[in-house]
Amino acid sequence: MSTINTEHYWLPFTPNRAFKKNPKIYTKAQGMTMTLADGREILDATAGLWCTNAGHSRPEIAEAVHKQLLEMDYANPFGFAHEKAFELATRLSEEIAPAGVNRVFFTNSGSESVDTALKIARAYWRKRGQGGKTRFIARQKAYHGVNMGGVSVAGLTPNRAVFGQGLEVSHLSHTRLEENAFSRGQGEHGADKLAYELEQQIAMYDASNIAAVIIEPMAGAGGVIIPPKGYLEKVRQICNDNDILLIFDEVITAYGRLGDGSAARVTGVTPDIITTAKGLTNGAVPMGAVLVSQDVHDAFMQGPENAPEFFHGYTYSSHPVACAAALATLDIYKNEQLFQRAGEMAKPWEDGIHRLDDSEFTTDVRNWGLVGAIDFKSGPAANGIDGLTRAQSVAAKALEKGITVRAAGDTIMMSPPLIIEQSHIDQIFDALQEAINEVQ
Ligand SMILES: Cc1ncc(COP(=O)(O)O)c(C=O)c1O
Repeated sequence: MSTINTEHYWLPFTPNRAFKKNPKIYTKAQGMTMTLADGREILDATAGLWCTNAGHSRPEIAEAVHKQLLEMDYANPFGFAHEKAFELATRLSEEIAPAGVNRVFFTNSGSESVDTALKIARAYWRKRGQGGKTRFIARQKAYHGVNMGGVSVAGLTPNRAVFGQGLEVSHLSHTRLEENAFSRGQGEHGADKLAYELEQQIAMYDASNIAAVIIEPMAGAGGVIIPPKGYLEKVRQICNDNDILLIFDEVITAYGRLGDGSAARVTGVTPDIITTAKGLTNGAVPMGAVLVSQDVHDAFMQGPENAPEFFHGYTYSSHPVACAAALATLDIYKNEQLFQRAGEMAKPWEDGIHRLDDSEFTTDVRNWGLVGAIDFKSGPAANGIDGLTRAQSVAAKALEKGITVRAAGDTIMMSPPLIIEQSHIDQIFDALQEAINEVQ
């Protein structure tokens, strides 16, 4: 490792100077396990960055990618196509999206999916002769990627603070409520109060100016914020009543995380547009997909037949290698019934994480599907690591014990691969219990 020159690589979302004093370098990933350069094996309780849902380094995906690279490495997606793009779009409509959402636009990331969805929403209203509908309503603590549209609708302050003005957006409250602390799954309280805020925003800005509401059905990066029961249903109803599109950002929740293809399927709430990425290719090849309702899509299919209906697309939209990886990934999900498995393992996962409810410094423990989060009393821990919050110190200790979890602010977040076994659940929460006790 001492031979690596760390000078030139500018790491994303990383304290670069601190990192380079003590670089954490991965060398290998298999199944549930990551290996560090010093040879230590780490149980990956975050599926990378919420993406390796089928576990790491799946040979089926590697073989599909290898074959595709030799057969056709690239195909121009503007005015041409290849068969796998159609096959993938069909399977996403049938296996991931809810009924009625069955048109697919391909991107290369979650951020691109979000910006694509925002553009579709604005252009849709133009096509419908209501070009004044340009505003968006989003939520505090939302993460919608890092492109300029996504940053505009984002609700995490550090992600917006230094980037100047963006789109016209107003933000609803996030859905983390004290009265729902320590809930198992969706909390009981607050749906009416939170949804009422949306009605107030619409009254303030008028529906004639609002293109869409964009929300993560379960906020991920902002701290695993789970909507209370009934909230998503109410938001859908209010959007319907006011002729406003609803976008679900499912970059984290799609591809099995909550026990089915999408949160829309799990909850029975159908948005007009769904953004996805990550688990689409099991994280192996960059790719995103925007799933669009037939109604929204069909509004574009007008005007001269020889002109593009949507002036948008990427050089790598529907990249053949990414499509091959995605199809192999969907095969794994189907053959191993991993979405159902996630649903079945959600209960042991819930029981495991709520073993930590009683720790002195824990202020909330929550879970939904195969996602979990623990909030700590804010501030540094007595036996923590200098400069780190209690949550970050617990995460650092957990890493010493062979578990990787994600810490942000006062929260620890987890989203394990869907292949998780009971023994991994025990290992994760034993290690976290010890880590919490040690840092205090
Ligand atoms: C809800 C949500 N939207 C968008 C993104 C951005 O995805 P990407 O990092 O692939 O651009 C993320 C990434 O974590 C996400 O969680």
